[in-house]
Amino acid sequence: MAWQGIVDEYRSRLELSPGAKAVSLLEGRTPLVPLPRLARSLGEGVELYAKFEGLNPSGSFKDRGMTVAVTQAVHDGAQAVVCASTGNTAASAAAYAARAGIKCVVVVPEGKVALGKLAGAIAYGAQVVQIRGSFDDALLMVREASQRSALCLVNSVNPSRIEGQKTAAFEVVDDLGDAPDFLCLPVGNAGNTTAYWKGFSDELQTGRTTKRPVVVGVQAAGSAPMVLGHPVTDPQTVATAIRIGNPARWNEAATAFRESGGHVRAVSDDAILAMARALAQEEGVFCEPSSATGLAGFAKAVAEGAIDPRGKRVVAVVTGHGMKDPDNAMAGRPAPVTIDATTDALLREVER
Ligand code: F0G
Repeated sequence: MAWQGIVDEYRSRLELSPGAKAVSLLEGRTPLVPLPRLARSLGEGVELYAKFEGLNPSGSFKDRGMTVAVTQAVHDGAQAVVCASTGNTAASAAAYAARAGIKCVVVVPEGKVALGKLAGAIAYGAQVVQIRGSFDDALLMVREASQRSALCLVNSVNPSRIEGQKTAAFEVVDDLGDAPDFLCLPVGNAGNTTAYWKGFSDELQTGRTTKRPVVVGVQAAGSAPMVLGHPVTDPQTVATAIRIGNPARWNEAATAFRESGGHVRAVSDDAILAMARALAQEEGVFCEPSSATGLAGFAKAVAEGAIDPRGKRVVAVVTGHGMKDPDNAMAGRPAPVTIDATTDALLREVER
């Protein structure tokens, strides 16, 4: 049977009101792409995979959670949804609200959202509100707004988001036949870490796996509250999706790192950009900077001797597509040349 999307494929394993009619764009079932070249650079016998979540309908993993959140919201009678966002949640909420035929309001930090995400939110018809402030400010605003109005909050503080996002762990287990030894992923608001841990914990409980992975969470050095152990008031990083100073799911993610025997670490913007480039140029996987952060941090941990991945299976969550952030993809790169429209000119250029 054709793929049904997250809600109908996994309904029996999700907390969702019985009978809620799926609002879906047939998200999920993303590929677990082997990364053989990068695996070799990590050590002998490493099996490395990217869970390429950029291939979801709006271009990020947020669609898994949003289909469940909007399905539940519509079932509960909501006429409008609201979220704070660094961009991907906004685009995803806008897409699913459009699908459901309800209103969507997104609140984003002015000037700190990648072009393709803003374009997505606008294209899907959301009301886009920019603030002179951070994501953390925006989240406080929408939490309060949802209490003082009929707007339904669809950030990952909404439990339906975690339910949907945990299905990525189910798919990893489907593909590998067990949980991997290590899972590395970027940490922003910490919802996705919470969701993967829940998913792998569910799998262990149902007996589909023999173990849960060691979870390595990675934040950008200029935006690393969980590494520092306190909120950051003015987070800064090129990885704008994870430019978050006070993660809403801090405690749940901290539990995941602790229970799994993993940890949370920081990595520089330069290392993030280098890994994004390596993923694109050595493996053909084009992701936004935030999405390369998990693997960048994991590689750093290996280089420092903090992790020995030899002979192990490692899954890196690659959270969003690179086409959403064209400015970062092109920054610091040579501009394409322009030549006369002749074959001679072309061959001269090729040989240069
Ligand atoms: N990667 C990407 C591409 C993201 O957009 C986000 C979060 C994360 C990683 C971090 O995930 O927050 O669950 O720890 N983006 C949110 C947004 C904050 O508004 O789009 P997290």
